[in-house]
Amino acid sequence: MHKKIARWVQDKQNGIKRAVVTAYDYPLACCAAAAGVHGVLVGDSLGMVVTGADDTLGVTLEQMAYHTRMVVRGAGDCLVFADLPFGTYEKGPEQAWDAAATLLRAGADVIKLEGGAEMAPTVAFCAERGVNICAHIGLTPQRVRQWGSFQQQGTDADSARRLQADAGALAEAGARFVVLEAVPDALAADITRDIAIPTIGIGAGPDTDAQVLVMHDLLGISAKSPPFARRYIEGSQIMRDALAEYVRDVGNNGFPPRRKC
Ligand code: KIV
Ligand code: NA
Repeated sequence: MHKKIARWVQDKQNGIKRAVVTAYDYPLACCAAAAGVHGVLVGDSLGMVVTGADDTLGVTLEQMAYHTRMVVRGAGDCLVFADLPFGTYEKGPEQAWDAAATLLRAGADVIKLEGGAEMAPTVAFCAERGVNICAHIGLTPQRVRQWGSFQQQGTDADSARRLQADAGALAEAGARFVVLEAVPDALAADITRDIAIPTIGIGAGPDTDAQVLVMHDLLGISAKSPPFARRYIEGSQIMRDALAEYVRDVGNNGFPPRRKC
């Protein structure tokens, strides 16, 4: 097993929490690495966060590879996760393996795909052929057109049981991690206890092994963020102020300073 992944498993066993943020480019990957973040996710959320789309369905594999290369250059010791985008893996294991290979060549350490037990054969196929897979269950944004909106999952007993079974099947198939998105806290805690691989939560309460936050939500620079995100700074305001100061300086002849020659 990859030394860095073995460390995640060890930390799960010891109850040591790990922090993941999304990153889509080099400078913010550098910031994450310098801050001691443990993992960076090149999420297909970039379709919404960076390109302004309403969902993630338009993101292509080429775009994911492009952003993965940028992030890898800045990621330092962070484990780099990259998302398989919509339409590049759902047809079957071989399609998924081809897409995963593209992101591995771009430098990703772990490849993430959405879906439950129905993806277990795909996870097994990839895991047996050199790919570290991170599964993603609960709110899986690539399925938004079936649901009509982004909504919490696992809120009734049946769907909670199904998610528990999904997590077990994916871990059994050889997934190295599982993301739990927008599920009740108690369910996320149960799944985290049930399986030996690390769980990474978002909108899933404090009891998962790791947390992931969208970088632009954390920095306060996303146009809209989900209720469970925390804005650690009001980045948009800070940047607007800096830009307005620049505009003022140029208007006042205050920038650039006059030089002797
Ligand atoms: O694309 C993304 O940012 C994600 C996380 C929210 C888990 O998949
Ligand atoms: Na994603």
